[in-house]
Amino acid sequence: MKFFVDTADVNAISDLAATGLIDGVTTNPSLIAKSGRNFFEVIADICSIVPGPVSAEVAATDHETMLAEGRKLATIAANVCVKVPLTIDGLKTCKALSDEGTKVNVTLCFSPAQALLAAKAGATFISPFVGRLDDIGQDGMDLISDTVQIYRNYEHIQTEVLVASIRSVPHLVESARLGADVATLPPDVIKKLFNHPLTDKGLAAFLKDWEATGQSILG
Ligand code: E4P
Repeated sequence: MKFFVDTADVNAISDLAATGLIDGVTTNPSLIAKSGRNFFEVIADICSIVPGPVSAEVAATDHETMLAEGRKLATIAANVCVKVPLTIDGLKTCKALSDEGTKVNVTLCFSPAQALLAAKAGATFISPFVGRLDDIGQDGMDLISDTVQIYRNYEHIQTEVLVASIRSVPHLVESARLGADVATLPPDVIKKLFNHPLTDKGLAAFLKDWEATGQSILG
């Protein structure tokens, strides 16, 4: 399973990239606004830190302008993945950009039917949002289960299921159990993946016992 970081915070991305466990980055207009930085500069910086796909989202809602924006964003770096919303114009843009060889992430997916449409439009990634479905009283993981199953039924579908709006470690674990291709995770959730109280307790005990031996591995 690929792990993407869901942030436009370059320092957080650099720290996590140093683990060697980060395969890509997703941003959205809200995350760009939160960074307080110029869109093009921050995307260029992120692309230089992480060699994998870096999602940069269009801001227009009509096909012609979205296409022009997507083409411009794709010039920032070879690993830019243009993000478009799951609307009719967004999917027209997805089809056109995909046909030109540009990677496309279709975002704001909230139903299996939408996920199927994105695959037909040639999306590189479909981003079903689990947390926002949970927020309105639905089970976001049902959408992941349905999408993974539907895509598996058709060998020709190459679109990868990129689980978005992840809010917790169980969201990630369940996504992996269902066979989703990618998870995009906020930095704080990634950090939580490493932790377990029994790891801390066990390590403290091992270190204490090792110290009592008086030995040193490096001499
Ligand atoms: C994905 O690409 C989105 O940027 C993100 O996962 C949305 O998460 P949120 O619902 O927590 O804002």
